[in-house]
Amino acid sequence: MSSGVSTMARLDADRWTGSMTRELTLVTGGTGTTGRRVVERLAARGAQVRVASRHSACMLDWEEPSTWAPALAGATRLYLTYAPDLAVPGAADTLAAFTESAAAAGVRRVVLLSGRGEPGAQAAERAVRAVADSAGVELTVLRCSWFVQNFTEGQFAPSLQAGELALPVGDVVEPFLDADDVADAAVAALLEEGHAGRTYELTGPRALGFAEAVRECAAAMGRAVTFQQVPPAAFRAALAADGVPDDVLDLLAHLFTEVLDGRNSRTTDGVQQVLGRPPTDLATAVRRSAASGCWA
Ligand SMILES: NC(=O)c1ccc[n+]([C@@H]2O[C@H](COP(=O)([O-])OP(=O)(O)OC[C@H]3O[C@@H](n4cnc5c(N)ncnc54)[C@H](OP(=O)(O)O)[C@@H]3O)[C@@H](O)[C@H]2O)c1
Repeated sequence: MSSGVSTMARLDADRWTGSMTRELTLVTGGTGTTGRRVVERLAARGAQVRVASRHSACMLDWEEPSTWAPALAGATRLYLTYAPDLAVPGAADTLAAFTESAAAAGVRRVVLLSGRGEPGAQAAERAVRAVADSAGVELTVLRCSWFVQNFTEGQFAPSLQAGELALPVGDVVEPFLDADDVADAAVAALLEEGHAGRTYELTGPRALGFAEAVRECAAAMGRAVTFQQVPPAAFRAALAADGVPDDVLDLLAHLFTEVLDGRNSRTTDGVQQVLGRPPTDLATAVRRSAASGCWA
């Protein structure tokens, strides 16, 4: 494909919203849980935004560095979310290299989505920060607890719909975080001043166990859903039988057996710090999602 055609395709992919601002925000993972919400909010505020992912009109693949420069062309701000997870091997190197490309392309402000209490995620934060600092790029890190949306639209949603969720997790509590709060925080950090250099730990307002979270979901659905704790090996075998690839199985094993050990149970005032309002409770978020048909 000639570079002229690539540029046309990229411009077609940009969402112009009537604003003639010179700022263009590239949203990586722009079709995912947080990216999609960030795109909606930026567009609603009249910002110019470009969605990038493997299946977007603007194609970006972390495994294909040749896709990076075309996606970054003209961008001045960046919402950076890495899939499948910052904890996977190689994520820190990939994100450091991408941040270098972003700085070279003219990006001046980056908001990085990260995970709480994950050594791999914190290594990726350090790698991105080192590049950003040396290139004079503003960086804000959103270090997040587990999303409520894992239950309503992510990997647990089909099981909830089927009436039974089985996970290798017991009594540990987690302050589940509403992805709408993440997106609000990301947009504030992208568009407003005063967030450069900050790392915000974002959590929901109360920590609750997975069984209790499932009870809240069931109440929102208006029907019974059971929660069962299963041994890690049985969980892995069941997912493997469903065709889930080994690298995803390794990632889930890491998250459930290492990260979910209680280290992230504490709530924080991160949402209040960024947005000047309290975070949304899981019960409120799941009722809102149920009303919009997430388990229909
Ligand atoms: N879920 C949680 O509870 C939680 C909590 C804290 C932090 N996080 C972090 O959130 C990040 C994921 O963000 P998210 O939940 O907003 O997204 P998501 O719902 O997991 O969706 C992934 C997004 O990334 C894109 N993508 C997947 N593979 C890609 C690749 N190889 N190259 C380029 N794009 C790719 C997907 O689109 P395509 O398929 O079109 O490529 C999609 O837009 C992870 O880094 C995770 O550590 C998650």
